Amino acid sequence: MNNQQLIALAEKYGNPLYVYDADRIVSQYHRMANAFSSVENLKINYAVKANSNINILKVLNKLNSGVDCVSIQEVKLAIEAGFNVKDIFFTPSGISFEEMEEATILGVQITLDSLSILEKFGNKYAHIPVCLRINPHVMAGGNHKISVGHIDSKFGISIHQIDGIKSILKKTGLVINGIHMHTGSDIYNIEAFLNATEILLNTVKEFDTIEFVDFGSGFKVPYKDGDIETNIEEMGVTLSNRFNNFCKEYGRDLTMIFEPGKFLVSEAGSLLVKVNVVKPTPNILFIGVDSGLNHLIRPMMYDSYHHITNISNPDGEEKIYDIVGYICENDTFGSNRSISEISENDILRIHNAGAYSFSMASNYNSRFRPAEVMLYNGEDYLIRKRENFEDLMRNQVILDL
Ligand code: LLP
Repeated sequence: MNNQQLIALAEKYGNPLYVYDADRIVSQYHRMANAFSSVENLKINYAVKANSNINILKVLNKLNSGVDCVSIQEVKLAIEAGFNVKDIFFTPSGISFEEMEEATILGVQITLDSLSILEKFGNKYAHIPVCLRINPHVMAGGNHKISVGHIDSKFGISIHQIDGIKSILKKTGLVINGIHMHTGSDIYNIEAFLNATEILLNTVKEFDTIEFVDFGSGFKVPYKDGDIETNIEEMGVTLSNRFNNFCKEYGRDLTMIFEPGKFLVSEAGSLLVKVNVVKPTPNILFIGVDSGLNHLIRPMMYDSYHHITNISNPDGEEKIYDIVGYICENDTFGSNRSISEISENDILRIHNAGAYSFSMASNYNSRFRPAEVMLYNGEDYLIRKRENFEDLMRNQVILDL
């Protein structure tokens, strides 16, 4: 996506605007598949939570990807997008038994993550093999809010509770067909993955009915030129070798699964915003844009860095700015940023807005959520309309007061 193309899209569809480049998603998918190509049975399950626009799901479905869903609504979206239920993996945490039953009826692969639900499930559905999410008790992830494999995390069944699992299986006759873990997001340290892998594989050895091992995700993508990222190619070689050897040891050709969200869609997306105000103050040169934490909460929630460029004046003299939103909070997209000179009405591009951006957007301050556009085979398509006032009012019940 070059600057002229993006400016033309902002003119055509208005702003703020999410733009996704489907080619980038496709190339990331192939990059991951190639990195693990020495594994005979590899499955890449896109983590729907990262970006659940149905057209993004359709692009991935065409690649033969599977999906990782964490709510029954994500499962239904995936079915709507054309995924076969055998390619839908349901890995929720702490949901109601009723929601789990709904997923069971739809026929998707279920992952359970507590002893309590394992027992309830076994008592009623002993004939349906399930996967177990374990908690490997390793600390990994770019921020404490997105580190989920450590001992104090709510996720998974502790590796110290294997005896508890076995006794439920014995009592109910339920069979375990997969073991799953997910340790966190934005992990660049391959060692952390490999350490957790050993724990995962040791858990697999405890059961003799395993068909697949789900390594979760958490690959760190670059957020700017030269930024650190998970070396997926290097990891692919090391992890594939380890996995292939393990399969021999285990005596079965297991399937290796990953559930990437950011890796597939983060870099494919941009949020285009328009400059409402250039506001010098004694200390800071603020740039106020027509968006805010309601559209992209990552900088405020995880202190995430999102690169920002001025696509209306890319070659201007660089100045130092704070780019802020229009929400009545201190919502900041970036502080102390060196950006080519910004004027009112310029269009700024916020990079890496393909993952956890629209999907975490809200109507805070009663603002509309932006439109979404996808570039696909050289054409641009509107894939979600901008919200309007009727959308804000739709579910409100007006009392006659
Ligand atoms: N699998 C499971 C079970 C997960 O919980 C997640 C993300 C993924 C896969 C995908 O992880 P990824 O490849 O995207 O790192 N909102 C946060 C990230 C939260 C991730 C939650 N789980 C952010 O914007 O950084």
